[in-house]
Amino acid sequence: MPQHFTPRADGRLRLALLLGLAALIGAALLAFVMVRSDHAWAVGRPAPQPIPFSHALHAGGLGLDCRYCHAGVERAAEAGMPSASLCLGCHGDVWAGATALAPLRDSLALGAPIPWSSVHRLPDHTRFHHGAHIAAGAACETCHGRVWEMPQTIKVRPMSMGWCLDCHREPEPRLRPVEAVFDRDWQGRPPPANPHAGGAVSPLTQCSTCHR
Ligand code: HEC
Ligand code: HEC
Ligand code: HEC
Ligand code: HEC
Ligand code: HEC
Repeated sequence: MPQHFTPRADGRLRLALLLGLAALIGAALLAFVMVRSDHAWAVGRPAPQPIPFSHALHAGGLGLDCRYCHAGVERAAEAGMPSASLCLGCHGDVWAGATALAPLRDSLALGAPIPWSSVHRLPDHTRFHHGAHIAAGAACETCHGRVWEMPQTIKVRPMSMGWCLDCHREPEPRLRPVEAVFDRDWQGRPPPANPHAGGAVSPLTQCSTCHR
């Protein structure tokens, strides 16, 4: 059989092939890590907002309860957003003419909601229910972090399916007694195990629980 390549060229070809393969594996590994990393889930990145609202100032400094503005959270699927008139209840006096608050006055005049950006929105094929979680003893802090310390709202957990399942497989250690759900200094122990939650055959890990 005739030789197409000199032994040296053959060696170089093998080396090039090997390097190419290594680069491919490297890229695949990087993609794999990226998909699972917090960066890909936008953890820690605030979204641009129409008004520079600060939880640190309102829920922290002024000490307003979460339910004052997110009134649906104990009953409904959605926590709900405050209306412009709720903000203007205070800001009719405080900072009344500020340009930063112009979207509040527009919203009131047009009867349209304030176009807040969400950092937590789940895809449409999934479902979530705040009321069921609060009633089971899941605290805002467990999923959203220490929001009352945030000058800009960020996501602290990925909100990925794997993250949901981590708790659904074994919720007890991550839950509180229901009366401690809104306690910002809670240091206590989880309540005794609920025999109906968690476990391998639990409805909490079935696809249809979270998917439409
Ligand atoms: C004075 C009203 C007010 C209070 C009190 C308040 N919030 Fe909010 N919250 C807002 C507004 C306005 C937004 C939308 C702007 C933003 O994300 O910063 C928001 C956004 C959020 C979001 C992000 C929603 C999304 O779609 O990603 C979470 C989570 C949240 N609040 C949790 C809390 C928690 C927990 C508390 C109590 C510690 C609390 N909030 C208290 C007004 C309030
Ligand atoms: C209970 C009264 C109260 C409510 C309700 C309230 N605020 Fe405030 N807000 C204040 C006070 C007090 C300040 C601080 C004013 C200061 O220090 O100059 C403030 C400051 C602000 C500032 C200036 C922030 C900064 O960094 O200086 C913005 C913007 C703002 N509020 C938006 C809102 C929005 C939007 C809502 C409704 C979701 C809202 N506020 C609801 C009392 C309130
Ligand atoms: C078990 C985890 C979990 C707990 C506990 C939880 N949340 Fe949420 N929250 C979420 C998820 C997931 C979303 C996104 C929901 C969606 O897109 O359907 C969300 C969205 C929100 C939003 C924006 C959209 C909406 O529902 O109106 C607000 C505001 C909010 N949460 C506030 C709170 C407050 C306040 C508490 C505590 C009283 C709380 N959450 C407790 C997981 C949680
Ligand atoms: C901290 C633990 C925890 C996390 C995190 C959590 N869950 Fe749950 N979830 C529970 C518990 C406990 C229940 C059972 C509530 C009950 O007994 O009704 C539940 C119930 C549910 C239900 C059934 C609600 C109903 O109407 O009965 C849905 C849907 C759900 N979770 C979706 C999700 C999704 C989606 C995520 C992730 C974005 C998530 N959960 C994250 C603890 C958690
Ligand atoms: C505890 C809630 C929960 C359960 C149970 C659950 N999922 Fe999910 N799933 C989610 C959430 C939240 C997302 C969106 C975030 C993500 O893509 O990870 C999702 C996303 C997905 C996606 C889309 C992934 C993508 O890349 O877009 C598929 C496919 C999926 N789930 C299949 C399943 C199957 C099959 C089961 C049953 C074996 C299941 N899920 C059970 C919460 C759940």
